[in-house]
Amino acid sequence: MRRTILCLTLAVPFALVACQSEKKADKPATAAAAKPAEAPKPAEAPKPAEAAPAAAGVSAEAMAEAKTIFETRCSTCHGLTGAGDGPAAAALNPKPRSYSDPEWQAKVTDDHIAQVIVKGGDSVGLSPLMTANPDLESKPEVVKGLVSIIRSYKK
Ligand code: HEC
Repeated sequence: MRRTILCLTLAVPFALVACQSEKKADKPATAAAAKPAEAPKPAEAPKPAEAAPAAAGVSAEAMAEAKTIFETRCSTCHGLTGAGDGPAAAALNPKPRSYSDPEWQAKVTDDHIAQVIVKGGDSVGLSPLMTANPDLESKPEVVKGLVSIIRSYKK
């Protein structure tokens, strides 16, 4: 009888210690997630809101909406200056091209750009990371406005 009690008194602290060390081991390693490198901001590059002129056949209202969409939605990947350096771009592969590339600007039609915007990259054989914007399907004027913003970056 005495032995059992002795055993228990010895066993309990051990059990506690065992439990505690188990808890410690359970702790998830704190994710030292690598922060995407902050893109350096070109000082005098104009924002699309100032850069993009009103496009033919696009009302001021639609143009304003296009600018807002570019600044809030597209710039996360494409960057406010269209250089392909938005905060989310670091994680993308392939990365968005710079809209200023004159060769690319000369190569693509407005229709191609509009299709990429509305239907997404994979609709023209590009990366599906360029996501579709189905809400713009019913807003062709806003899409035109976005195309003109992209055209305005041409060097
Ligand atoms: C989640 C990130 C992301 C967002 C948001 C995004 N794009 Fe893209 N976009 C990409 C990537 C990545 C590519 C490059 C695809 C490739 O080269 O395969 C791309 C490519 C493009 C291209 C170039 C197509 C070509 O011929 O090379 C255009 C134009 C474009 N995006 C417009 C837009 C517009 C306008 C918006 C906002 C409505 C937008 N994108 C939002 C990631 C994004």
